[in-house]
Amino acid sequence: MTSDIIRQEEAREAGTGKTLHVITWGCQMNVYDSARMTDVLRPLGYRPVEAAEEADMVILNTCHIRERAAEKVFSELGRLRKLGEERRAAGHGRTVIAVAGCVAQAEGEEILARAPFVDIVLGPQTYHRLPEMVARAARAGGAVIDTDFPAETKFDFLPAEAAPQTDGNLTAFLTIQEGCDKFCSFCVVPYTRGAETSRPVASVLAEARRMAAGGVREITLLGQNVNAYHGEDGAGGVATLASLAAEIAAIPGIGRIRYTTSHPRDVDQSLIDAHRDNPALMPFLHLPVQSGSDRILKAMNRGHTAEEYRDVIRRLRDARPDLALSSDFIVGHPGETEEDFEATMRLIREISFAQAFSFKYSPRPGTPAAGAPLQVDEAVKDRRLQALQALLREQQDAFNADMIGRTLPVLFTARGRKPGQIAGRSPYLQAVHVDGPETLIGQTAPVLITQRNSNSLGGVLKRERACA
Ligand code: 5AD
Ligand code: SF4
Repeated sequence: MTSDIIRQEEAREAGTGKTLHVITWGCQMNVYDSARMTDVLRPLGYRPVEAAEEADMVILNTCHIRERAAEKVFSELGRLRKLGEERRAAGHGRTVIAVAGCVAQAEGEEILARAPFVDIVLGPQTYHRLPEMVARAARAGGAVIDTDFPAETKFDFLPAEAAPQTDGNLTAFLTIQEGCDKFCSFCVVPYTRGAETSRPVASVLAEARRMAAGGVREITLLGQNVNAYHGEDGAGGVATLASLAAEIAAIPGIGRIRYTTSHPRDVDQSLIDAHRDNPALMPFLHLPVQSGSDRILKAMNRGHTAEEYRDVIRRLRDARPDLALSSDFIVGHPGETEEDFEATMRLIREISFAQAFSFKYSPRPGTPAAGAPLQVDEAVKDRRLQALQALLREQQDAFNADMIGRTLPVLFTARGRKPGQIAGRSPYLQAVHVDGPETLIGQTAPVLITQRNSNSLGGVLKRERACA
């Protein structure tokens, strides 16, 4: 305890009046984590700044999911080192460089070996220890590495007064679950983010209430396997995502709830029912399927068949007929034949997606698929990806075109680009612009969609009174 206080004091001294710049790569979990790292350092005197050139401390929050992740980190670190040297030459103090996130977790030792000028390496589970690491780095002048999966959870230690991660305070992300135990053949997440853990309900609700009080109207619940959520409910039981969403929906001000990313195996009946019964749950669901071939789904260790995925979608659409879907696809997983690829194309045609992310399989060292036989030729992957993306683009275009003539509830979040315009988002995360009063910002109002622009929809307000 005493040593904790001493460490905090040291950390405060190390940070007083300093500037911090966080560079964020990767998923929304990282965006959230970057905001929380900024929060834990703020009481120590670190003020966030927009440019690395102005920062006394730079945190590079990394992502491991894409190709050549480590190489990109080393190249960025080279740039940051140069910036630090230039600042020093201009009479500033030494720039502290920290590497966080999944690359730090997976390749911490390698980072310190190849980039010895890095001061701090920390994995996604240890952000709450950042103040201590800053103090230790300042004291020792040597590098500090912390990529443990500690017994205590960072959620218990992160500051309560955290600034919500928002765009203009109207929409926010909230991490409720982390890690993954599913071990899909291609994926590094179980190795970098560790075992699946859920944040207790009370802690989630406290943060959601703070967000609502700060003006947030739409919350996106985050987790690598968010629908596997099973947080303690405070009464000796375990909550589900559906029960948690019901409690969040009851918070005054919170009109919209989203969640991402989900796994088909964890879509249970209570979640399907929630899409029917909880009007705050937006009818837009990201549910990655990766492949439409049973053989490849098995090789991927996804734990479900293509038919089981179709069945989940059918049940969800029965519960919520206006539900639109988004998904992730991988082409060229080891062993994928032309027939397997065709099965994926068939599944896409049958289900029809409003949006999707698609990738060529790329081996991640240490994952089972990386060492598997029958790796697919790059040229074949390229061809399949192009065909798949063309089909998905067609479906996305058709989905957006279909909006014309429909009336959508739009949550207005900002002024528009042109004077007299306001901008917001539809239930399907489409940007919508209308002529309307700024007083509607922060409210949801019905909009008749009349036109489609390249990246947004245009429409007219049905009436200028907000929806309930
Ligand atoms: N190669 C290609 N795509 C991958 N993804 C994850 N790992 C890999 C990999 N090794 C994709 C999956 C996942 C999304 C976040 O990234 O589609 O759902
Ligand atoms: Fe990765 Fe599979 Fe876990 Fe998703 S479910 S994070 S793809 S291992």
